[in-house]
Amino acid sequence: MAEGPSLAAIEEEARRAVASAQSLAALAEIRAGFLGKKGSVSSLLRGIGALAPEERARVGEAANVAKERIEGFVRERREILEREAHASALAAQRLDVTLPGVRPPRGHLHPITQIERDIVAFFHGLGFSVEEGPEVETQWNNFEALGIAPDHPARDMQATFFVDGGHVLRTHTSPVQIRAMTGRQPPFRFIVPGRVYRNDRSPRHSPMFHQVEGFMVDERVSFADLKGILYAFQSHMMGAEVELRFRASYFPFTEPSAELDYRCLLCQGAGCATCSQSGWIEAGGCGMIHPTVLANCGIDAERWQGFAFGMTLDRAAMLRWGIPNIHLLFEGDLRVLEQLG
Ligand code: PHE
Repeated sequence: MAEGPSLAAIEEEARRAVASAQSLAALAEIRAGFLGKKGSVSSLLRGIGALAPEERARVGEAANVAKERIEGFVRERREILEREAHASALAAQRLDVTLPGVRPPRGHLHPITQIERDIVAFFHGLGFSVEEGPEVETQWNNFEALGIAPDHPARDMQATFFVDGGHVLRTHTSPVQIRAMTGRQPPFRFIVPGRVYRNDRSPRHSPMFHQVEGFMVDERVSFADLKGILYAFQSHMMGAEVELRFRASYFPFTEPSAELDYRCLLCQGAGCATCSQSGWIEAGGCGMIHPTVLANCGIDAERWQGFAFGMTLDRAAMLRWGIPNIHLLFEGDLRVLEQLG
């Protein structure tokens, strides 16, 4: 067996093959071709048994040296290929820190929530605290305790949604007067923002809308206090130049009662579509709390009196942002809401 030159030839062949390997996978295959179980060095060693004993040791040792060298070529080449693979991965994933950034979209509160918080903060400043009640209400709280008997024509003023079990979707925030006053004694100063429901639908009416109720009960509360607070409230909402009008009206739970209008901000009173050509916009109802309502809550109406008002929030939002149709507020269309920051 011509062991000497053929080992050297194998080694040289391996050196070249290893140097030409272009990938780690190709390198592994080349290595197996020389050093693997069926590789050329192994086959050569397998023939060793046919040799004379002293030859055997010499050839075996030379083969091991050749094996070591080939391993060395492979290791070197592997390092180079690994470095190259790493460099090209880095190049492919390069991050260009000079590119302009992408501004993440930023949300904001719903316009109604903005107005609600604004109102609550204003009334906090006057010593009013927030009361809440459920949207599914008893008929006692929503109607009877407020002086609206089942056959009372005032029920027609508020087309009611009835719920199973004799409950109603509250048609106004006034039932929270009953909840807040029953079992407590004055003085009271409460503000009640919340959703209310009436079976009404038009560009200016949604079956769900928002009111804010306010009421104050003490030993010397007059209609003048009511007027003063509503002036302060409306000029806070719409600017100092807002013009108000109290129109005598009727609610079963207040006496005397008034409806509050303000000069249309869009046409300055000249008449436009928003104010139905009247120059005035209805803000809500108000009046002195009826003694029967106080008595229904267990309060001595000889000693205590108070005022109450209930205003529509949604209309304030429509005016603040010039929204022609109330439904735009509740359709969840981000293209609209994004503009109402
Ligand atoms: N609850 C009445 C309504 O919704 C408004 C109101 C509240 C009137 C308080 C007087 C006092 O129409």
